[in-house]
Amino acid sequence: MKHFPKNFLWGTAMSAPQTEGQNLSFGKTATIWDHWFKTAQEKFYQDQGPKVTSDVYGHYLEDCRRMQAIGLNSFRTSISWARLLPDGKTINPEAVAFYRQYFLAMLDHGVEPIINLFHFDTPMWLMTRGGWENRDSIDAFAFYARTAFELFGDLVDKWTTFNEPLVHVECGYLYQYHYPAVVDFKRATQVAYHTLLAHKAAIKAFREVTQTGKIGIILNISPTYPKSEAKEDMLAAFRSDLLNTRSFLDPAVLGTIPDELLVLLKENELLPETKAEDHKLIENNIVDFIGLNYYQPRRVQAPKVTRLPAQMPADFYQPYDWPKKKLNPHRGWEIYPEALYDVAMMMKENYHNMPWYVSENGMGVAAEETFMNADGEIEDDYRIAFMKEHLSYLHQGIREGSNCFGYHAWTFVDCWSWLNGYKNRYGFYRLDLATRERSMKKSGRWMKQVSENNGF
Ligand code: BG6
Repeated sequence: MKHFPKNFLWGTAMSAPQTEGQNLSFGKTATIWDHWFKTAQEKFYQDQGPKVTSDVYGHYLEDCRRMQAIGLNSFRTSISWARLLPDGKTINPEAVAFYRQYFLAMLDHGVEPIINLFHFDTPMWLMTRGGWENRDSIDAFAFYARTAFELFGDLVDKWTTFNEPLVHVECGYLYQYHYPAVVDFKRATQVAYHTLLAHKAAIKAFREVTQTGKIGIILNISPTYPKSEAKEDMLAAFRSDLLNTRSFLDPAVLGTIPDELLVLLKENELLPETKAEDHKLIENNIVDFIGLNYYQPRRVQAPKVTRLPAQMPADFYQPYDWPKKKLNPHRGWEIYPEALYDVAMMMKENYHNMPWYVSENGMGVAAEETFMNADGEIEDDYRIAFMKEHLSYLHQGIREGSNCFGYHAWTFVDCWSWLNGYKNRYGFYRLDLATRERSMKKSGRWMKQVSENNGF
């Protein structure tokens, strides 16, 4: 039996744009996703867009009952910025009523809310002004954050600023999975820098508004493993970690941007525009906790040819296809649970053992109906095995002193996944796309036992 620490958080994560529905009603204005679906629908899997998603707007109360039914004591979702502040300035009373009822329903069902402010859903009113390339985005986000803390601070104790801030940067400005789908390394670093400052400005606002709650940030973590110990491969791995991990984790926890990162960006003419006062904002405004989303490791090797200045991250490191890897063929991601132990040790050794939790971990599987038994239950034994293995390595890290306070699975009810629509399913509950009904999967029953026993 593997026991987890007392008061360990067992829960799931979702986000507003992937679940709420009512995308252009009840006062909400368009985000980049509503806009992109309208203008480039063919990019989206089976034309599935952000309009209805899982209709949490109409189902949140029963959903909170369902969380309780499988023993979950916590839940992360996000507020939609474009719903709360449809023009960036004016509070939408319908949004306030909705979120208050939603958060109250969680509390009424013994589920602690962890509320995130940004999950890839840039409002169009901001994007038409240049989005995160525009320095005004920092103040706009800080105003939104302050408004949310003031409106919901009595119900919410744990907050996070951004979910995976690097993802909207790389998908929007390098790899074309998010709008505006441009490819420009220099613009990407500017967007990343403003995002970092927006995060810091939100922490500052939080400390001014409240003395009681806790605030953190959710980062995607893919620990880097080099192909070999050759100097060139090790350098590639070091640079990958600089760009993909330390770029946000160091400033969030340590209050510094790594010198090596600044040198690398300078050498490659990628430094963003800054202001002298930024230094103080970055140095202060340290988080209380970190959330880490872990799905897959990153295996890298030295690039065969390098361009100076670099045009893409591939000029610093290239993917290495490890022949022994175990693969989730649906998502194309490597399954490597051992990394959770390494992550736990990294937090302990390099980040003052700051409190942290696994804020997402899970397995997306296509055509899950093929695993449905005669009673209509999805027998997702693969998901149970996946989580058990990951939790085992996490447990080992905790036993060795890493300060991890929870495990949140992605996700609660199957949700809409950006360009992939409802292709890959992740939930403890299956979503019927025709009726929006939810039904518990075998993994949901398993999770109930795990949380009741605080281990497995
Ligand atoms: C995380 C995101 O990176 O991974 C979620 O925070 C996302 O928004 C999840 O849905 C699973 O990835 P995907 O691309 O299969 O939906």
